[in-house]
Amino acid sequence: MAQGDTELEARLEEQDEFEPSEEFVAQANVSDSDIYDEFEENWPVCWERAADLLDWDEEYDEVLDDSNPPFYEWFTGGELNACYNCVDRHVENGDKNRVAIKWEGEHGETRTYTYQDLYREVNEFAAALRDLGVEEDDVVTLYMPMVPELPIAMLACARIGAPHNVVFAGFSAEALATRMNAADSRFLVTCDGYYRRGDPLDHLDKTNEGLDSVDHGVDATVVVDRLGDDGFGHDLKGNQHDWDDLLDEQGGERVEPVERDAEDMLFLMYTSGTTGQPKGVKHTTGGYLSYATWTSHAVLDIEQEDTYWCSADIGWITGHSYIVYGPLALGSTTVMYEGTPDFPNRDRMWDIVEKYAVDIFYTAPTAIRAFMKWGSKYPASRDLSSLRLLGTVGEPINPRAWKWYYEHIGNEDCPVVDTWWQTETGGMMITTLPGVKNMKPGSAGPPLPGIDAQIVDTNGDEVKPGRAGYLTVNKPWPGMLRTLYNNDERYISEYWEEYSDTDSDDPDDWVYFPEDGAKVDEDDYITVLGRVDDVINVSGHRLGTMEIESAIVGVEGVAEAAVVGGNHEVKGEAVYAYVITEDGYEEGDDLRARIIEGVEDAIGPIARPEQVVFTPELPKTRSGKIMRRLLEDVANGAELGNTSTLRNPEIVGEIEAKVRAQSD
Ligand code: WT7
Repeated sequence: MAQGDTELEARLEEQDEFEPSEEFVAQANVSDSDIYDEFEENWPVCWERAADLLDWDEEYDEVLDDSNPPFYEWFTGGELNACYNCVDRHVENGDKNRVAIKWEGEHGETRTYTYQDLYREVNEFAAALRDLGVEEDDVVTLYMPMVPELPIAMLACARIGAPHNVVFAGFSAEALATRMNAADSRFLVTCDGYYRRGDPLDHLDKTNEGLDSVDHGVDATVVVDRLGDDGFGHDLKGNQHDWDDLLDEQGGERVEPVERDAEDMLFLMYTSGTTGQPKGVKHTTGGYLSYATWTSHAVLDIEQEDTYWCSADIGWITGHSYIVYGPLALGSTTVMYEGTPDFPNRDRMWDIVEKYAVDIFYTAPTAIRAFMKWGSKYPASRDLSSLRLLGTVGEPINPRAWKWYYEHIGNEDCPVVDTWWQTETGGMMITTLPGVKNMKPGSAGPPLPGIDAQIVDTNGDEVKPGRAGYLTVNKPWPGMLRTLYNNDERYISEYWEEYSDTDSDDPDDWVYFPEDGAKVDEDDYITVLGRVDDVINVSGHRLGTMEIESAIVGVEGVAEAAVVGGNHEVKGEAVYAYVITEDGYEEGDDLRARIIEGVEDAIGPIARPEQVVFTPELPKTRSGKIMRRLLEDVANGAELGNTSTLRNPEIVGEIEAKVRAQSD
């Protein structure tokens, strides 16, 4: 921080409400505060505004069919194609030479795809998929890092009506197999590898290992050659095809976009829950695409002329909605970066903002906290004056990090939107409309127009402003998940049972429960406090503690394990594992290393425990339930909660001493 900034810093520290600049408001896509009332008075018809951002092959008959809650249907009778809306229509509208994707590799190589380039490659790959035997409604798994072929493959799938199932490239072989098995997916697109901090990483080896565990076998795999001469020399097997060869064979082939029913599945995305089995969240074509596009327009304020950069990975929902579908449907330029933020230097992100003159930047609080730790000299060394709007997503952002972002990245000129949403919601739900509302650091903001959110107690009664309670959503919205793949029952039990009258046909009796704690202030601004289930949020990524526990107990020598989230300065939360060894096995570094390896094999490096604490017992209630809350207190160095209901209260002090010794 420069010397003269101290005064500014002190002023920002005091300020708890920020107004968007007149200049921003004057150009904002949405700047009329009446929009909230309009949505309320004319609900659900007002959602036509979202659908109107798209081109429909067949007009829908009804905005919402809520006759069978919680199986809501949106824009029923309508037909459209998501790929057509993201690609073809821009080419047809005279924007074929506009840049769709600016890609930057970790080594600084760049690739630029105009809408025409995208059109050509998406068509060729769609034709290739068809030739490989992919039919409408077949689920195609995409296990790819941040290469342009990933959005191209997604759009090609959408074009032929084959739902995609993107699996984050950092997930393990086992996680890939679990998701392919659950989705009954017989087609896979992957790549040979990618770069991380300068080194090539072997991805095909991991892919092949995963494929060995796919129960139903796989009809075809397509492999993108990312590494070229840096590759690991794998030979492609019989049903494995090289991406470039397939495209060469197609040479300019065209495929008509398939007219999809609004309610047809666009994609599946697996996300962690409280059981060991991930949940296959189903999103549809009409509602999801309308919602991703509408929120990109209203919240991210994206216009066609903009260069927009979301630094998430496409392997998560953020990348689906706000790197691919929303920005491309709006015809803007979306930036993709392959690598890490500190390679080769800690100014890499700001280098990219300067180089492409990025207008809008969307990232996660965990990244902002890392930037903050590295210091403001890095952004200060670059010209960031192109920026107009900043956003965050994934976890609560502390006011200090918010203000740092506002000041050092936004130069106090850019509104910051703190957007609360989930894989299941498809798009943003709670945040300020940047051209309408003031911002309050630490609070996401009011529910968006048309979104009916409330904070309630365990009985479902609304709690007073300032009091912590549970976040609920009382009306459906177009981007919502439709069900969990092949599991309507779990869909109801996970999201609706808690606060709904499940015997009722009246949609007013159905309440969506996102499993987050929250509080609201007098202005209806909601502060989301975090998950209230056994899910932890590491660097904005959702991890199920049960999944990690089952990986740990699978390690030889482990008898029992409990996993909780502990506060972490940068990651938000970190994984703490408390482990009981089996008789005859020694606690120590060897077992610790095998436990970490076990977790990485089962899930991936993102789930790697920060601390493995060996203990002879876990704190349990008299009925044998593990008291996780106490383990969290221990991880956080917090004052311990009530231990009087424990069968073995003495163990907590012992565990606490160990954690302290290990942290020193
Ligand atoms: C969970 C959803 C939405 C894409 C990224 C994560 C937490 C998300 C915020 C925010 C506080 C947030 C919630 C939510 N979360 N955004 N702005 N403030 N918490 O998607 O993996 O589905 O996780 O992330 O706990 O339930 P996800």
